[in-house]
Amino acid sequence: MSDRSLQKNVQTLNAEFARALESVKDFADLEDIRIEYLGRKGKIANLFKILGTLPENERKGAGRALNDLKERIQTVVSERQKILSHPEKSDLSFDVTLPGDRLPVGRYHPITLVLRKIKTCFQQMGFSVAQGPEVETDYYNFEALNFPKEHPAREIQDTLYVDDEIVLRTHTSPVQIRVMESQPPPVRIIAPGRCYRRDTPDATHTPVFHQVEGLCVDEGVTFADLKGVILTFARQMFGSDMKIRFRPSFFPFTEPSAEYDFSCLMCRGKGCRVCKGTGWIEISGAGMVSPEVFKCVGYDSERYTGYAFGMGVERITMLLYEVNDIRLFYENDVRFLHQF
Ligand code: DAH
Repeated sequence: MSDRSLQKNVQTLNAEFARALESVKDFADLEDIRIEYLGRKGKIANLFKILGTLPENERKGAGRALNDLKERIQTVVSERQKILSHPEKSDLSFDVTLPGDRLPVGRYHPITLVLRKIKTCFQQMGFSVAQGPEVETDYYNFEALNFPKEHPAREIQDTLYVDDEIVLRTHTSPVQIRVMESQPPPVRIIAPGRCYRRDTPDATHTPVFHQVEGLCVDEGVTFADLKGVILTFARQMFGSDMKIRFRPSFFPFTEPSAEYDFSCLMCRGKGCRVCKGTGWIEISGAGMVSPEVFKCVGYDSERYTGYAFGMGVERITMLLYEVNDIRLFYENDVRFLHQF
């Protein structure tokens, strides 16, 4: 064989190796190829044997080509061995043109979203945000709100007592007292926060829930102001065709007291299953601050008047997002939470 035909053989072997490599699927395939090409009696060794038969002056060019091919095949085989033993680490198993893995991103809890919406809405109407403790004294939670001791009105709410004098607040109304104690009129605040009641969980009750309290005190504040604020809020949250209505009711800390409803979101007041055919959805209570409460905080009830209102945040969230079971907010199932 001549130098030239040996060089040609090297080229052919190179192409043949490339083709053989394409069909390698696992370690065993690769090992077969390694032995076939690099083994002691393999194809490269054979060519080296032929090289040895060439006259000395012809060995140089073919020898270099053969050595190059051997080195290349060795490198490719050992690279491929690495890939097959650690496919995840291999650069070759990674297609840089593929889109990256999507990282799971957290969301705001629906209650947080709605609380923020409510706050923004009232802030735009000039209310500031006040806070009070969740572990509250009997005085703020009941007494100063004109629920006298032993009064049956206390039975309206099932209270979680820490001891005789300390409770987990059953509503956000005690924040009204704390704010009025800490500043003279005018007052215009909302107080969002967590509340607790001894309730067995069902589709509309959980022992922990959220309320937003509202309080406005100044000279000349009337029930008409209360209606205006509630109507503006309802329309901001649910749309400009919302209607509201007030029904007479009783709360010890307001006189007169009312409960207020929003027109049903589902049927827009026509009557459906959600509103039980009435066209109205109950939201919460409201009223004019009782002079008894003003007396407790040292406000002059001859000079000042005020309105107060409450609202259940879970209830509003359920209406806004059409959620039919309040417990979903507290189970933290990501399949639910991911929808907001
Ligand atoms: N605190 C009452 C409750 O939890 C709701 C409420 C009623 C708040 C009337 C008020 C109000 O501010 O004036 O049921």
